[in-house]
Amino acid sequence: MIDAARRMLADGRRVVSFSGAGLSAESGVGTFRDAPDGMWANYDPARLASPEGFAADPKLVIDWYAARRRTVGDAQPNPAHLALAGRGDILHVTQNVDDLLTRAGADGVISLHGSIDFDRCHAGCGHEERVDMTDPPGLRDCPACGAPLRPAVVWFGEPLPSSDWLDAEQACRDCDVLLVIGTSAVVYPAAGLIGLAKSAGAGIIIVNTHQSDASGLADVELLGKASEVVPALLDEPARPR
Ligand code: OAD
Repeated sequence: MIDAARRMLADGRRVVSFSGAGLSAESGVGTFRDAPDGMWANYDPARLASPEGFAADPKLVIDWYAARRRTVGDAQPNPAHLALAGRGDILHVTQNVDDLLTRAGADGVISLHGSIDFDRCHAGCGHEERVDMTDPPGLRDCPACGAPLRPAVVWFGEPLPSSDWLDAEQACRDCDVLLVIGTSAVVYPAAGLIGLAKSAGAGIIIVNTHQSDASGLADVELLGKASEVVPALLDEPARPR
């Protein structure tokens, strides 16, 4: 199986990676839906990751994100991030809000669900600033307009950043191989990129510890840990993008 996937990657001129929380799981950043520790098994996304939840109790939301920010700040890229980042010829699209791919050295990562290491104005005045992940801020106001600041991530019910989404769609339409890593593929529109790539003719390789909603789309499904499977797949010399 891994040989077939390696051949697909060697033959593919344009390769795109599409990752989810499983990519960062072995760095100590929790996933959302894995039992029993998945974040959404223990916390209510409607209260913590939605505009309605923020309106109802902004301090609860900001304090929860402060804890997540400390976790991400303490985490280090794992061998899967490093292997992906080492391939300058692969374009990376991720649902992860952590910055581990970028810290591993990847350029131009498309972060569909935003970035936890930034705050932005909740009223949309355009103000955005990087936060200190080792000492994350509490609830505070936008210095530009006085509205509350909030993490620059996409919450349930919010649209994806439109230019990132258009770039991701284009990349998935144009790629020869989509390498899908560590996602349950249940959150749309992001998960729809897999079907989009497939119907545009791309080969689909899936790396996951378990089967997922995208398993039926896989040309090759490699069941195993990202930190082991991804480096084994990608230890090819890099080609210019
Ligand atoms: P999920 O938690 O839904 O899925 C994680 C996937 O990773 C599961 O399919 C696991 O089997 C797999 N997995 C766990 N550990 C792994 C490992 N070490 N190696 C490989 N695979 C592993 O996370 P996402 O699919 O990323 O949205 O969730 C999608 C979105 O739902 C997130 O971006 C987030 C969440 O609500 C927003 O923040 C908007």
